Amino acid sequence: MVAVDGPSSSGKSTVGAEAARRLGYRFCDTGLLYRAVAWLAVERGIAPDQTAALVALAGEVHLVADKRGRLRNVEAAGRDVTTEVRGPAVDRAVSDYSKVPELRSALVPRQRALAANGGIIMAGRDIGTVILPDADIKVYLFASPEERARRRAAQRKLTADETRESGILDDMRRRDAIDSGRETAPLRAAEDAIVLKTDGNTFEQTVAAVVRAILDADAHAAADADAARGANRGR
Ligand code: DC
Repeated sequence: MVAVDGPSSSGKSTVGAEAARRLGYRFCDTGLLYRAVAWLAVERGIAPDQTAALVALAGEVHLVADKRGRLRNVEAAGRDVTTEVRGPAVDRAVSDYSKVPELRSALVPRQRALAANGGIIMAGRDIGTVILPDADIKVYLFASPEERARRRAAQRKLTADETRESGILDDMRRRDAIDSGRETAPLRAAEDAIVLKTDGNTFEQTVAAVVRAILDADAHAAADADAARGANRGR
Protein backbone atom coordinates (compact mmCIF):
# COMPACT_ATOMS: atom_id res chain seq x y z
CA MET A 1 0.00 0.00 0.00
CA VAL A 2 1.27 3.44 -0.93
CA ALA A 3 -0.02 6.64 0.70
CA VAL A 4 0.30 9.91 -1.23
CA ASP A 5 -0.69 13.05 0.66
CA GLY A 6 -0.41 16.75 -0.05
CA PRO A 7 -2.35 20.01 -0.45
CA SER A 8 -4.82 20.65 -3.25
CA SER A 9 -3.31 20.79 -6.75
CA SER A 10 -0.03 19.35 -5.48
CA GLY A 11 -0.38 16.71 -8.21
CA LYS A 12 -1.36 13.87 -5.85
CA SER A 13 -4.11 12.50 -8.03
CA THR A 14 -2.64 12.93 -11.51
CA VAL A 15 0.84 11.83 -10.43
CA GLY A 16 -0.53 9.04 -8.22
CA ALA A 17 -2.76 7.70 -11.02
CA GLU A 18 0.08 7.66 -13.54
CA ALA A 19 2.53 6.04 -11.08
CA ALA A 20 -0.13 3.40 -10.34
CA ARG A 21 -0.62 2.74 -14.05
CA ARG A 22 3.11 2.23 -14.58
CA LEU A 23 3.47 -0.07 -11.58
CA GLY A 24 0.25 -2.04 -12.08
CA TYR A 25 -1.28 -0.77 -8.83
CA ARG A 26 -4.86 0.37 -8.32
CA PHE A 27 -5.35 4.07 -7.62
CA CYS A 28 -7.82 5.79 -5.31
CA ASP A 29 -8.28 9.55 -4.95
CA THR A 30 -10.05 9.88 -1.59
CA GLY A 31 -10.70 13.59 -2.22
CA LEU A 32 -13.48 12.47 -4.58
CA LEU A 33 -15.45 11.12 -1.60
CA TYR A 34 -15.19 14.41 0.30
CA ARG A 35 -15.98 16.35 -2.86
CA ALA A 36 -19.08 14.25 -3.61
CA VAL A 37 -20.37 14.73 -0.06
CA ALA A 38 -19.81 18.49 -0.36
CA TRP A 39 -21.57 18.57 -3.75
CA LEU A 40 -24.59 16.73 -2.37
CA ALA A 41 -24.65 18.93 0.74
CA VAL A 42 -24.65 22.11 -1.37
CA GLU A 43 -27.37 20.67 -3.66
CA ARG A 44 -29.56 19.89 -0.65
CA GLY A 45 -28.77 23.04 1.31
CA ILE A 46 -27.12 21.15 4.18
CA ALA A 47 -24.64 23.31 6.13
CA PRO A 48 -21.37 21.99 7.63
CA ASP A 49 -22.81 22.24 11.17
CA GLN A 50 -25.77 19.96 10.35
CA THR A 51 -23.70 17.01 11.44
CA ALA A 52 -26.25 14.18 11.40
CA ALA A 53 -27.54 15.10 7.94
CA LEU A 54 -23.96 15.36 6.68
CA VAL A 55 -22.95 11.95 8.04
CA ALA A 56 -26.03 10.45 6.36
CA LEU A 57 -24.80 11.84 3.02
CA ALA A 58 -21.61 9.78 3.35
CA GLY A 59 -23.73 6.66 2.80
CA GLU A 60 -24.98 8.04 -0.52
CA VAL A 61 -21.52 8.54 -1.97
CA HIS A 62 -19.57 5.77 -3.70
CA LEU A 63 -16.44 5.40 -5.78
CA VAL A 64 -17.15 3.35 -8.87
CA ALA A 65 -14.63 1.01 -10.48
CA ASP A 66 -14.43 0.85 -14.26
CA LYS A 67 -13.89 -2.41 -16.20
CA ARG A 68 -10.19 -2.32 -15.36
CA GLY A 69 -10.85 -1.79 -11.67
CA ARG A 70 -9.83 1.88 -11.71
CA LEU A 71 -11.69 3.98 -9.15
CA ARG A 72 -11.95 7.06 -11.33
CA ASN A 73 -15.62 7.93 -10.95
CA VAL A 74 -17.75 8.98 -8.04
CA GLU A 75 -21.51 8.67 -7.62
CA ALA A 76 -23.71 10.70 -5.30
CA ALA A 77 -27.33 9.68 -4.77
CA GLY A 78 -27.01 7.23 -7.66
CA ARG A 79 -25.77 9.80 -10.16
CA ASP A 80 -22.27 10.08 -11.65
CA VAL A 81 -20.95 13.47 -10.45
CA THR A 82 -17.26 13.05 -11.31
CA THR A 83 -17.24 16.21 -13.45
CA GLU A 84 -19.42 18.33 -11.13
CA VAL A 85 -17.31 17.65 -8.04
CA ARG A 86 -14.23 19.17 -9.69
CA GLY A 87 -15.95 22.51 -10.32
CA PRO A 88 -15.29 25.83 -8.53
CA ALA A 89 -18.42 25.64 -6.33
CA VAL A 90 -17.20 22.42 -4.72
CA ASP A 91 -13.62 23.77 -4.59
CA ARG A 92 -14.86 26.65 -2.45
CA ALA A 93 -17.12 24.61 -0.18
CA VAL A 94 -15.35 21.30 0.37
CA SER A 95 -12.80 22.23 3.06
CA ASP A 96 -15.57 23.45 5.37
CA TYR A 97 -17.31 20.09 5.08
CA SER A 98 -14.20 17.90 5.17
CA LYS A 99 -13.10 19.36 8.51
CA VAL A 100 -16.18 17.95 10.27
CA PRO A 101 -14.86 15.12 12.53
CA GLU A 102 -18.06 13.02 12.35
CA LEU A 103 -17.97 13.04 8.55
CA ARG A 104 -14.29 12.06 8.58
CA SER A 105 -15.00 9.19 10.99
CA ALA A 106 -17.76 7.90 8.73
CA LEU A 107 -15.37 7.83 5.78
CA VAL A 108 -12.41 6.18 7.56
CA PRO A 109 -13.62 2.54 7.32
CA ARG A 110 -14.73 3.09 3.71
CA GLN A 111 -11.23 4.18 2.71
CA ARG A 112 -9.54 1.36 4.65
CA ALA A 113 -11.82 -1.20 2.99
CA LEU A 114 -10.81 0.08 -0.44
CA ALA A 115 -7.14 -0.47 0.45
CA ALA A 116 -7.62 -3.78 2.25
CA ASN A 117 -6.29 -5.99 -0.55
CA GLY A 118 -3.12 -3.94 -1.04
CA GLY A 119 -1.61 -3.14 -4.45
CA ILE A 120 -3.01 0.38 -4.26
CA ILE A 121 -1.82 3.97 -4.30
CA MET A 122 -4.23 6.01 -2.19
CA ALA A 123 -4.13 9.81 -2.35
CA GLY A 124 -5.51 12.32 0.15
CA ARG A 125 -4.59 14.50 3.12
CA ASP A 126 -4.40 12.01 6.00
CA ILE A 127 -3.68 8.70 4.29
CA GLY A 128 -0.17 8.27 5.72
CA THR A 129 -1.07 9.68 9.13
CA VAL A 130 -4.56 8.27 9.84
CA ILE A 131 -6.08 6.03 7.17
CA LEU A 132 -3.10 3.78 6.38
CA PRO A 133 -0.48 4.48 9.07
CA ASP A 134 1.16 1.13 8.19
CA ALA A 135 1.43 1.88 4.47
CA ASP A 136 4.58 0.35 2.95
CA ILE A 137 5.56 3.71 1.59
CA LYS A 138 4.37 7.25 2.21
CA VAL A 139 4.93 10.15 -0.14
CA TYR A 140 4.13 13.78 0.69
CA LEU A 141 3.92 15.97 -2.41
CA PHE A 142 3.84 19.71 -2.10
CA ALA A 143 4.43 22.92 -4.06
CA SER A 144 4.07 26.62 -3.29
CA PRO A 145 0.52 28.07 -3.41
CA GLU A 146 1.58 30.20 -6.42
CA GLU A 147 2.70 27.16 -8.40
CA ARG A 148 -0.45 25.24 -7.49
CA ALA A 149 -2.68 28.18 -8.42
CA ARG A 150 -0.91 28.32 -11.82
CA ARG A 151 -1.56 24.60 -12.35
CA ARG A 152 -5.21 24.89 -11.39
CA ALA A 153 -5.63 27.88 -13.77
CA ALA A 154 -3.95 25.95 -16.58
CA GLN A 155 -6.28 22.99 -15.98
CA ARG A 156 -9.23 25.36 -16.33
CA LYS A 157 -7.59 27.04 -19.37
CA LEU A 158 -7.82 30.53 -17.80
CA THR A 159 -5.92 33.54 -19.13
CA ALA A 160 -3.65 35.55 -16.77
CA ASP A 161 -6.42 38.15 -16.23
CA GLU A 162 -9.05 35.51 -15.62
CA THR A 163 -6.69 33.80 -13.17
CA ARG A 164 -6.25 37.02 -11.16
CA GLU A 165 -9.96 37.76 -11.16
CA SER A 166 -10.91 34.21 -10.22
CA GLY A 167 -9.13 34.54 -6.88
CA ILE A 168 -7.69 31.02 -7.27
CA LEU A 169 -4.54 31.87 -5.30
CA ASP A 170 -6.42 33.36 -2.33
CA ASP A 171 -8.80 30.43 -2.39
CA MET A 172 -5.87 28.00 -2.43
CA ARG A 173 -4.34 29.70 0.63
CA ARG A 174 -7.67 29.73 2.45
CA ARG A 175 -8.20 26.01 1.82
CA ASP A 176 -4.61 25.18 2.83
CA ALA A 177 -5.22 27.00 6.12
CA ILE A 178 -8.44 25.07 6.79
CA ASP A 179 -6.99 21.67 5.76
CA SER A 180 -3.78 22.16 7.78
CA GLY A 181 -5.34 23.93 10.75
CA ARG A 182 -8.30 21.63 11.43
CA GLU A 183 -8.30 19.62 14.64
CA THR A 184 -9.11 16.24 13.14
CA ALA A 185 -6.55 14.66 10.82
CA PRO A 186 -4.93 17.91 9.64
CA LEU A 187 -2.87 17.92 6.48
CA ARG A 188 0.75 17.17 7.35
CA ALA A 189 3.52 14.88 6.22
CA ALA A 190 3.79 11.63 8.20
CA GLU A 191 7.09 11.40 10.07
CA ASP A 192 8.19 8.53 7.84
CA ALA A 193 7.03 10.13 4.57
CA ILE A 194 9.31 10.90 1.64
CA VAL A 195 8.75 14.62 1.09
CA LEU A 196 8.89 15.79 -2.54
CA LYS A 197 8.71 19.48 -3.42
CA THR A 198 7.46 19.77 -6.98
CA ASP A 199 7.85 23.48 -7.81
CA GLY A 200 9.37 23.74 -11.27
CA ASN A 201 9.10 20.00 -11.91
CA THR A 202 7.49 18.68 -15.05
CA PHE A 203 4.72 16.12 -14.55
CA GLU A 204 7.08 13.44 -15.86
CA GLN A 205 9.80 14.36 -13.35
CA THR A 206 7.41 14.07 -10.43
CA VAL A 207 5.94 10.78 -11.67
CA ALA A 208 9.46 9.40 -12.14
CA ALA A 209 10.44 10.48 -8.59
CA VAL A 210 7.37 8.79 -7.09
CA VAL A 211 7.85 5.58 -9.11
CA ARG A 212 11.53 5.49 -8.10
CA ALA A 213 10.65 5.96 -4.42
CA ILE A 214 8.17 3.07 -4.58
CA LEU A 215 10.57 0.76 -6.42
CA ASP A 216 13.40 1.61 -3.98
CA ALA A 217 11.13 0.84 -1.03
CA ASP A 218 10.11 -2.48 -2.64
CA ALA A 219 13.77 -3.37 -3.24
CA HIS A 220 14.63 -2.59 0.41
CA ALA A 221 11.70 -4.65 1.66
CA ALA A 222 12.78 -7.59 -0.55
CA ALA A 223 16.40 -7.30 0.69
CA ASP A 224 15.20 -7.19 4.32
CA ALA A 225 13.04 -10.27 3.76
CA ASP A 226 16.03 -12.11 2.18
CA ALA A 227 18.27 -11.14 5.09
CA ALA A 228 15.65 -12.35 7.60
CA ARG A 229 15.33 -15.70 5.74
CA GLY A 230 19.15 -16.04 5.71
CA ALA A 231 19.34 -15.33 9.46
CA ASN A 232 16.64 -17.95 10.13
CA ARG A 233 18.49 -20.57 8.05
CA GLY A 234 21.68 -19.87 10.00
CA ARG A 235 20.02 -20.71 13.30
O1 DC B 1 -7.51 16.60 -2.81
P1 DC B 1 -8.78 17.39 -3.09
O2 DC B 1 -8.54 18.84 -3.40
O3 DC B 1 -9.67 16.73 -4.10
O4 DC B 1 -9.56 17.34 -1.69
C1 DC B 1 -10.81 17.94 -1.52
C2 DC B 1 -11.07 18.25 -0.06
O5 DC B 1 -11.19 17.06 0.70
C3 DC B 1 -10.04 19.10 0.66
O6 DC B 1 -10.73 20.06 1.46
C4 DC B 1 -9.33 18.17 1.57
C5 DC B 1 -10.31 17.08 1.79
N1 DC B 1 -9.71 15.76 1.92
C6 DC B 1 -9.43 15.34 3.19
O7 DC B 1 -9.66 16.09 4.15
N2 DC B 1 -8.91 14.10 3.40
C7 DC B 1 -8.65 13.28 2.35
N3 DC B 1 -8.14 12.06 2.57
C8 DC B 1 -8.91 13.72 1.03
C9 DC B 1 -9.42 14.98 0.85
